[in-house]
Amino acid sequence: MEARLYEKQDAVKKFEENTVEYPNVLRKYIIDCLAQLDPDKTHNRRYDLMLDAGCGNGHHTSIFAEQFKEIIGFDKSKKQINLANKKNVHCNIQYIVGDENKLPARENTVDLIWSMFSIQYMNVETFVEECKRVLKPTGCAIVAGFSYADITVLRSGIHECDSGMPAFAKYLKNSSDWFKSHIATEYEVIQRYTNVFQKISGVKKSRKDDLVGTITLSLDKLRKFILSVPEWNEFSKWMEMHHEPDPLNQSIREMKRMWNLENKDDNEVIVLLKVSFFALRFSK
Ligand SMILES: C[S@@+](CC[C@H](N)C(=O)[O-])C[C@H]1O[C@@H](n2cnc3c(N)ncnc32)[C@H](O)[C@@H]1O
Repeated sequence: MEARLYEKQDAVKKFEENTVEYPNVLRKYIIDCLAQLDPDKTHNRRYDLMLDAGCGNGHHTSIFAEQFKEIIGFDKSKKQINLANKKNVHCNIQYIVGDENKLPARENTVDLIWSMFSIQYMNVETFVEECKRVLKPTGCAIVAGFSYADITVLRSGIHECDSGMPAFAKYLKNSSDWFKSHIATEYEVIQRYTNVFQKISGVKKSRKDDLVGTITLSLDKLRKFILSVPEWNEFSKWMEMHHEPDPLNQSIREMKRMWNLENKDDNEVIVLLKVSFFALRFSK
């Protein structure tokens, strides 16, 4: 049911409108992984083929456009793929409907399979088998996501050290508890793909948990970004239906109080959001 949340028209729109750019540190790590596996290729040379598994609307697929001759993004949701084909057109990227049962590539042809925030919906064993089929011996798969590590306010461009994390963490804890009993796939993301990593077998695998990046955005944009993820929006709707106060609004209010910015509009309060990536990597 969770994957179908990405098929609803209003969810598709919200997800597209309120996305944020992923910090570059993950991209750099992935390019380094490829270079290690195939030392003959320099960082400036183009690899042949990349797959973006669960590419959604394709917004993030293009971050690798310079590194590959060809990129294929695939997603189970026809609506996401239609949007990708309208909004994220790029000369060497194609988007197609597909899933882990049949990756859209021939044997031993793929340099990189990247999957961001999507593996939780897939059958991991099937995905790994298919990756083994299509990956080149020098290729690798990287399955990744991130969790929130810290939030601080920016005032006139100066980094303020008072962390808003104690307040934000209350919201994260509430949502995590709710996902645990209501949406197992999102709980798997919160758990930084612990079960997914265990299920990956028959390949050389490792995980990286110390990549940290930052995203600068207003509190208003942060709220919109969080609620653009359909599962997190479901949590908010559930709280509302049960006449509970919205924990996201509560934590935002608390942060503003702490920073003495209660009189400011949410879109005037600019924060630095620190995210901690988890990247599972495997190769044949
Ligand atoms: C959270 S979104 C991530 C989209 C994109 N990777 C990004 O980082 O913006 C998860 C995507 O996985 C897709 N999805 C769900 N089940 C899938 C499956 N079995 N195979 C491929 N894609 C799937 C959903 O349709 C949705 O677009």
